[in-house]
Amino acid sequence: MTQLRCDRTPAWGALKAAYQASGKDFDVRKAFAGDARRFDTLSQQAPHVFADLSKNRFDAETEQLLMDLARQAGVEAHRDAMFAGEAINNTEQRAVMHWLLRNPPPAIVNHVRVAIKNVAKELSDVHATLDAMLAYAQAVRLDTAITDVVNIGIGGSDLGPQMAVLALDEFVVPGKRFHFVSNVDGHELAATLKRVKPESTLFLIASKTFTTIETMTNAASAKAWFAANGGTDIARHFAALTTNVAAANAFGITTTFGFWDWVGGRYSMWSAIGLPLAIAIGAQGFREFLAGAHDMDEHFRTAPLAHNLPVRLGLLDVWYRNFHGFTSRSIAPYHSALRRVPAYLQQLEMESNGKQVDASGEALPFGTSPVLWGESGTNGQHAYFQMLHQGTDVVPVEFVAVKKPKHKLPGHHNMLLANALAQAQALMTGKLDAGGHRNFPGNRPSTFLLLDELTPTSLGALIALQEHRVFVSGSLWGINSFDQWGVELGKVLAKDIEPRLTSGDTTGLDGSTAGLLGKLRA
Ligand code: F6P
Repeated sequence: MTQLRCDRTPAWGALKAAYQASGKDFDVRKAFAGDARRFDTLSQQAPHVFADLSKNRFDAETEQLLMDLARQAGVEAHRDAMFAGEAINNTEQRAVMHWLLRNPPPAIVNHVRVAIKNVAKELSDVHATLDAMLAYAQAVRLDTAITDVVNIGIGGSDLGPQMAVLALDEFVVPGKRFHFVSNVDGHELAATLKRVKPESTLFLIASKTFTTIETMTNAASAKAWFAANGGTDIARHFAALTTNVAAANAFGITTTFGFWDWVGGRYSMWSAIGLPLAIAIGAQGFREFLAGAHDMDEHFRTAPLAHNLPVRLGLLDVWYRNFHGFTSRSIAPYHSALRRVPAYLQQLEMESNGKQVDASGEALPFGTSPVLWGESGTNGQHAYFQMLHQGTDVVPVEFVAVKKPKHKLPGHHNMLLANALAQAQALMTGKLDAGGHRNFPGNRPSTFLLLDELTPTSLGALIALQEHRVFVSGSLWGINSFDQWGVELGKVLAKDIEPRLTSGDTTGLDGSTAGLLGKLRA
């Protein structure tokens, strides 16, 4: 695999020169005035997602240079290495194959294409597990005695299924409630347990490692509550979703659905971790969700760079982060069911690309992951959009809108879409004639993603698109997007501090931590 860090390519210098010459003062309004075809050139239909990039501070020429950058940095070879099952997660010596979870079964693949030949065994395992998990999901759906499903998991074992069950609320089986408990804060579990009964609840313990302290603490408390309230049949009321089936068994759970170390936590919603979603939307719905993502995988794997949406988005991300110096991106889903998407994308991008060294461990001389943040529209408009329009920092905004609503309330949807369009328009056009406090500088960049309808298929494609754009920027930066060493230190320190809260021992602690510990014990 031949990869070259972005700053070591000839294109990097060319982009620096282009930024100085025309990039830094680029005015999107002027670009539109000078190019009647700008919308056509800078928008595209990808599988299930239409994207308009034309309100961004670049043009076809800059995009060409960015494409050179991708080619010279070896993004294609890196992508192909991922799709060939190579161990591209080099610090953990693991393959990165969440995409395989979305691949059609081997029988179909053999007829259609041969790309999967290196991982045929893994693909059969994937489908054997998927079939078992979906059969179980169907049985739970038919089981009217189970009214509540409580998912206990955190990070990738929580955010994905939680986001997707909310997003696909219109497809959720009637008669079942879904709860997500992630925080070690007992208030969360206690509040959920108040609302459920042992005889009608299914607890799903979701943890790739089955060692995460929050999940283990919540799982133990849930199990104790179950027993204390007359529950006896653990096999019926508890299932574990994990790569560590032995640990789940040792914990006393015999109903288990496995996955593999080549599925990263934040990429795991397509595996057994997706069980809450599968119960919610059914086997057929879950297969459609996988199929939508697979369509995007195939697009990313095969489309020429210039028409490859994840590549175009990832390159734009690098253009903004490393040349314009923008440090954050705001996600604005104009659909209330997509309200947990910003939280989901935070983990996806910031845990993947929030790194300060490259894959070989060398310190990076440029910025990496932006801060991702956001709220659903129109709510954000009445909170922080003020800053987006008139603040001193430029924050690229990514709008996500859905053409067809699922409700029949008159007027609402056009109002919603009008607001999305108006915000993107206002950010770009601005308004300078009023003066002073009423001035809008404009030229504030945004991308507009549009789904025809919010369905399992389109949601799958939208999320796979985001995964692959994060792959592209991470690849250009030369980092390993698939480890997360940065979460370790806090875990270790919490273990050290916890007994001190009881003992009061402050030996070796810094002044602030010792002071706060004292306050908490007083
Ligand atoms: O602490 C970070 C992390 O390792 C995430 O990457 C992961 O999604 C989360 O914890 C949960 O891990 P697990 O599924 O093993 O409980």
